[in-house]
Amino acid sequence: MRVHEKISLWALALAAGVSAQDTFESPDFNVTEALIENGINVSAIPELASLAVRSSTSGCSIACSSLKLIFGGSKVSATPPATYWSTQQSQVEPYCTYIPTGVLEVSTLVLLARLTQCPFAVKSGGHTAFSGASSIEGGITVDLVNLKQLELSADQKTLAVGPGNRWLDVYSFLTPHNLAVVGGRAASVGVGGLTLGGGISHHTNHYGLACDNIASYELVTAVDIILTISHSTFPDLYWALRGGGNNFGIVTTFRYETFPQGLMFSSLRRYDSSQIPPLLDAFTNAVNGAEKDTKLAHFISIIYYSGYKFASAEYEYFTPVDTANPPEILKEYLAVPPIQESTVNTTLANTTPSLSQSMPAGFRTTMWSQSFKLNVELMKRRMSDHFFDIAPTIPAISPSIAFQAFSKPALEAMQKKGGNALGLDPDNGPFFHVLFYMPWTDAKDDKAILKAAQDYINTSIAMAKELGAYNDYMYMPYSSPYQPVMSGYGAANVAKLKAVSKKYDPQGVFLELQPGYFKFDGAPYGTTV
Ligand SMILES: Cc1cc2nc3c(=O)[nH]c(=O)nc-3n(C[C@H](O)[C@H](O)[C@H](O)COP(=O)(O)OP(=O)(O)OC[C@H]3O[C@@H](n4cnc5c(N)ncnc54)[C@H](O)[C@@H]3O)c2cc1C
Ligand SMILES: *[C@@H]1O[C@H](CO)[C@@H](O)[C@H](O)[C@H]1NC(C)=O
Ligand SMILES: *[C@@H]1O[C@H](CO)[C@@H](O)[C@H](O)[C@H]1NC(C)=O
Ligand SMILES: *[C@@H]1O[C@H](CO)[C@@H](O)[C@H](O)[C@H]1NC(C)=O
Ligand SMILES: *[C@@H]1O[C@H](CO)[C@@H](O)[C@H](O)[C@H]1NC(C)=O
Repeated sequence: MRVHEKISLWALALAAGVSAQDTFESPDFNVTEALIENGINVSAIPELASLAVRSSTSGCSIACSSLKLIFGGSKVSATPPATYWSTQQSQVEPYCTYIPTGVLEVSTLVLLARLTQCPFAVKSGGHTAFSGASSIEGGITVDLVNLKQLELSADQKTLAVGPGNRWLDVYSFLTPHNLAVVGGRAASVGVGGLTLGGGISHHTNHYGLACDNIASYELVTAVDIILTISHSTFPDLYWALRGGGNNFGIVTTFRYETFPQGLMFSSLRRYDSSQIPPLLDAFTNAVNGAEKDTKLAHFISIIYYSGYKFASAEYEYFTPVDTANPPEILKEYLAVPPIQESTVNTTLANTTPSLSQSMPAGFRTTMWSQSFKLNVELMKRRMSDHFFDIAPTIPAISPSIAFQAFSKPALEAMQKKGGNALGLDPDNGPFFHVLFYMPWTDAKDDKAILKAAQDYINTSIAMAKELGAYNDYMYMPYSSPYQPVMSGYGAANVAKLKAVSKKYDPQGVFLELQPGYFKFDGAPYGTTV
């Protein structure tokens, strides 16, 4: 069976009228006819033709065998993808894994899932820690690994990236052009989940998050229509995709804005725990200092490993740095004596393997996130001290907390082109946030570890409230499934996100048939561990 080439036709036909309508999908939308439009002869697949009389439990069996029949056995597998970061995700068993190679193949999957009512999950780099985020028990896991396009526009101002790419692929492609995009800091993380949840980069102080630097998205919708979404074509959907996660469709191309980037300064340093107070002073001053110099990126991790307490930090600067004569904003950090350090001038691509190595794949893992108003007292005497109080009692290999910031210039950069959906107000900033991350191996420790993390976040929130430093925002890509991430975006933004969803996906296909990850209400697993 041949799939017609009609993508450009859809784009042309729709760009004109769609955004003016209240609803994108007509109430009498016929999925079977849409599949026929996609070149799929439904009556030639007996199981699909007689679907109406079958029980719904056989839906995924029919969907998977139809995909195999239409697109060939090489694109449908009975086993889960082998490329998840966490054990919790690798252990999920889908009915089948579907590995599309093109946009029409993705669109057809959505329609077949609708016709058969088989639930699905979408996977880009598979770096979410919790199960169900980019995996689905008994449903179809859609592995976008083969959507690998990397294409620079003729004027080199934008880069089209398929969600099968990891950040090392993206930056390595750009290195010979002396260009970069705002993206992730770890080599093996996928472009999809990171960009749809925000995207903290070495370049965030200057340009904002990855999602704030997208020229356009190519989006497979719930109907047989593929949209190219930019701030000028579909401003409501463009806004919603800037932080709204997987709720609006499947992005088959992210077109990033590029900027010049040559060699950069990169330094990894490890410190004795006695240096944590001066490091957190330096952190605070560097966050405030971003108002004068947006070229520094930095974060501090506080780690407990087998009785040892230490800190580690990563610093990047947009240009090479002579550490004997550093830019003002780096001076305080560089004055704190490390016990170990590695400093280079290197490519953006070469800065990324170390973070992936320090958070290796193949463990049970959990991540929790919470933001606060920048407050050194809270970080030092409350959150760091409290962390070391509880860490020895947690049965994880190496509990850690990482402090990162949203500086004022970063928050201001998030407002360009209509702003993003995160609800972070520059007037209330700067903010810092904590990422509580733990790897472990034994499932019997799950409950104790998750409870310890939740308790730590709750205690931190209580301490912050005491100090007037609480902020409700949680960073989606670092959040646990017990956190109601969307509520942190603010009630007005949640209402707006729901309205956009209703308009483009009135049947709630991406909410109901794709149940995993952060939806508009509540936490994926409920708020109690
Ligand atoms: C080692 C490590 C380093 C990290 N470093 C950073 C960092 O520097 N900056 C940062 O901001 N975050 C970072 N993170 C967090 C990271 O952004 C999240 O784990 C993110 O979800 C990973 O994206 P992914 O595509 O690999 O994940 P996936 O699990 O594949 O996807 C996450 C969610 O997004 C959805 N999704 C993915 N692609 C698409 C698509 N194309 N269309 C629709 N929905 C899609 C999936 O369905 C899923 O629900 C890091 C995480 C790890 C483990
Ligand atoms: C949808 O279209 C198919 C094919 O034209 C038709 O057989 C079917 O009855 C239609 N379904 C509905 C609910 O209208
Ligand atoms: C669709 O399949 C049916 C059944 O195999 C066949 O009779 C019909 O001619 C096909 N239609 C097209 C347009 O290929
Ligand atoms: C990085 O480049 C700067 C400026 O050219 C230079 O002074 C410094 O020595 C370089 N650092 C390293 C580690 O090579
Ligand atoms: C933490 O707060 C959440 C949400 O308010 C609550 O459901 C949970 O029981 C609390 N957990 C602990 C360990 O205090």
